[in-house]
Amino acid sequence: MTNKIVQALIWKENGLSILDQRQLPSVLHYEHYTHSQGVAQAIATMQVRGAPAIGIAAAYGVVLSLKQHYGTTPAWRSAVYADIDLLANSRPTAVNLFWALDKMKAIIAQESTDVLAAATACAIAIHLEDQTANRKMGELGAEVIGHSKGLLTHCNTGSLATGGYGTALGVIRSVAARQSVAIYADETRPWLQGARLTVWELAQDGIPATLIADSAAAWLMKSGAIDWIIVGADRIASNGDTANKIGTYSLAVLAKQHGVKMMVVAPTSTIDWTLENGNAIEIELRDSSELLPESYHTPDSLVSAWNPVFDVTPATLIDALVTERGVVLAPSTRAEGIARLRNA
Ligand code: MRU
Repeated sequence: MTNKIVQALIWKENGLSILDQRQLPSVLHYEHYTHSQGVAQAIATMQVRGAPAIGIAAAYGVVLSLKQHYGTTPAWRSAVYADIDLLANSRPTAVNLFWALDKMKAIIAQESTDVLAAATACAIAIHLEDQTANRKMGELGAEVIGHSKGLLTHCNTGSLATGGYGTALGVIRSVAARQSVAIYADETRPWLQGARLTVWELAQDGIPATLIADSAAAWLMKSGAIDWIIVGADRIASNGDTANKIGTYSLAVLAKQHGVKMMVVAPTSTIDWTLENGNAIEIELRDSSELLPESYHTPDSLVSAWNPVFDVTPATLIDALVTERGVVLAPSTRAEGIARLRNA
């Protein structure tokens, strides 16, 4: 393996460099941000994607706000909270965003600390701990899978979507390091995270992969080529219901029909303990123009589009939930559910 793992986020003394994922795979371009508003905009406009990466970027965004406002006037906190609100409104579904902002808010509320230094250390720790968690999940997930003939993944969950290495893609990397396995990636319409990011990342790492149209997944399963589907998550409710990229739910339903197993891989920062189940997870609806061909973009067009970008897979369809704190097999059948991960 060539091990050229690309970084989505690079923190520097004077700001945050964000790899503009909209330009991949043809152009590798980093945009440098010195203000939190720019980071909020980068999240909202999909320059940076993936639940853990969004959380990390937001944490650094708060540090940039503090660099601008901390101690400048007695009311510096109001200016920082306004920037935090902007970051919180950048995207609704990935809970890592709110988890990271809550951590930063707890530091800002402290009176007797150097808040800027503490917040910077916290953001860097969030970033580094995510990398460590990914490596751990990679090993745990690969153990659960054991021998595999083929794996299918959906969306992007690699280095670009995380602090580095990846969640579901981290497990795939770890499986590929142990054995020869066929790896399939869904295209992932409409933003094509699979086609533009996942297979590109794997190729960068020297791992061969086969791209399929999203609608080919059932037929792939029917062919017997895969035994596991491995996906990441944007928000997991306390009972294991999992919000992830639109199309994940269909894959889980298809997996049941074909005797294929379904694995969700996510750090515990993706678990929303305040939610009993997935019903209350806010699903981001993006603009119809992302789906509609140009010729329908007219005010009198009779053609509209419905563009939810996440869906919720019930825990009953999930065979394994892999976190950095351990694995829960068949989470819906365990009396204690995933609660044991909370303080593990
Ligand atoms: O809209 P995106 O590209 O931010 O969606 C990303 C996903 O749905 C990922 O599968 C999820 O965030 C897990 S990333 C490790």
